[in-house]
Amino acid sequence: MEQEKRGQWASSFGFIMATAGSAIGLGNLWKFPYLAGEHGGGAFVLIYLLIVVFVGFTIMLGEMSIGRATQRNAIGAYKALNSKFTWVGVIGVLSGFLILGFYNVVGGWVIKYIIQFLTGGVSGDPAVFFGGFVSSAVEPIIWAFVFAVATAFIVWRGIAGGIEKYSKVMMPTLFILLIIVMIRSVTLPGAGAGLEYYLKPDFSKLTPSAIVAALGQVFFSLSLGMGCMITYGSYLSKGENIEKDAFVVPLMDTSAALLAGFAILPAVFAFGYEPGAGPGLMFITLPAVFAEMPFGNIFGLLFFILVLFAALTSSISLLEVCNAYFIDEHKWSRTKATWVISGVIFILTILSSLAQGPLSGFLIFGKNFFDLFDYITSNILLPLGGLMMCIFIGYVWGVDKAAAEIMQNGKVAFKSRGFWTIAVKYIAPLAVGIVFLNMIGIIKF
Ligand code: TRP
Repeated sequence: MEQEKRGQWASSFGFIMATAGSAIGLGNLWKFPYLAGEHGGGAFVLIYLLIVVFVGFTIMLGEMSIGRATQRNAIGAYKALNSKFTWVGVIGVLSGFLILGFYNVVGGWVIKYIIQFLTGGVSGDPAVFFGGFVSSAVEPIIWAFVFAVATAFIVWRGIAGGIEKYSKVMMPTLFILLIIVMIRSVTLPGAGAGLEYYLKPDFSKLTPSAIVAALGQVFFSLSLGMGCMITYGSYLSKGENIEKDAFVVPLMDTSAALLAGFAILPAVFAFGYEPGAGPGLMFITLPAVFAEMPFGNIFGLLFFILVLFAALTSSISLLEVCNAYFIDEHKWSRTKATWVISGVIFILTILSSLAQGPLSGFLIFGKNFFDLFDYITSNILLPLGGLMMCIFIGYVWGVDKAAAEIMQNGKVAFKSRGFWTIAVKYIAPLAVGIVFLNMIGIIKF
């Protein structure tokens, strides 16, 4: 079989949309607003921004430089530069399988809610509705399947013709919808309480554990630590200014997170609810809010469409990390890789979905499948991957080689070279290392 020609982004704008699409996801829409509110509002936002600059930008540029230098997938890239680090790529690809395993389930829930808002909204008590739906055996799996097929279809169409093309439509639409919902939310009577909860700086809540939470959130939100940016960077042409890209993408991701806070929290408070964490906020509290709002079904529908777009542009990046490995290293065709890998991941998806109901009592290390896949990746594999990348660039491959790749032997400016060198060698690995040790419980804040 003939080796497939490696894909390439058609434009710099397309690459930025796809990369921002990977970053902007469920992590921005429900996790950030809640974390900010809980951990001291404006004070948390400030710390978050600092970490985006020192760690987020640094690791993103590092991953992009590895990807573009090697023009390889996450595993192949490390193997090409230093085979002692191949395992870092391996845990990245493994993370892709595991994250997508449960991401598909949540994506399916979002589709179910879109259908629900199209046909009159969520009926009865939203908590009972949500609980009944996710714990049933068959229906959530069907919606997860629809989501997984949509993801696979886009990835199967290729880099420029699939991922880039669809991201270029979905990302701008997402921002427009987010701004519409935000305007509705902040103009509701009683929105002020939500704004206060969200933004009023309370430095007394800025505990070490809040800082750890901010760091973990930067990581997940920017899609770092699993070779996602290596893979996307590998489809870049050599002239691209990746320093600029590694600046713009975190800027967009952070803007989306901040906007999500304005879209969600004022509405929640205006109707007298308390913001709950995670799925509860998105699938129970918000539907309750939309049910009471004038034209609530329309805003509910717009909101869940934007959530779907955010989720899809993230899920395609996760699948592409796995795909790229089998296409580059095992010479699979894109068609074979996409559908075989998606099929394997769907087994994990079925387990994750059943973990909400029939299999909820089946626990490994005290966690059901859904929580287990989430925990292993977010708390162990991703920080480990990010830490190893810093060590790899700082002390093995070398910052000068990375800088030469970024500058294209002097053809492209690299304004932040001094800053980045210090950040990648010292600041980022130290910060990520501390969070990592905290997360796996070796040190406790
Ligand atoms: N960043 C996405 C979000 O905020 C999730 C995501 C996509 C991700 N690809 C990733 C997280 C790679 C970690 C690694 O929801």
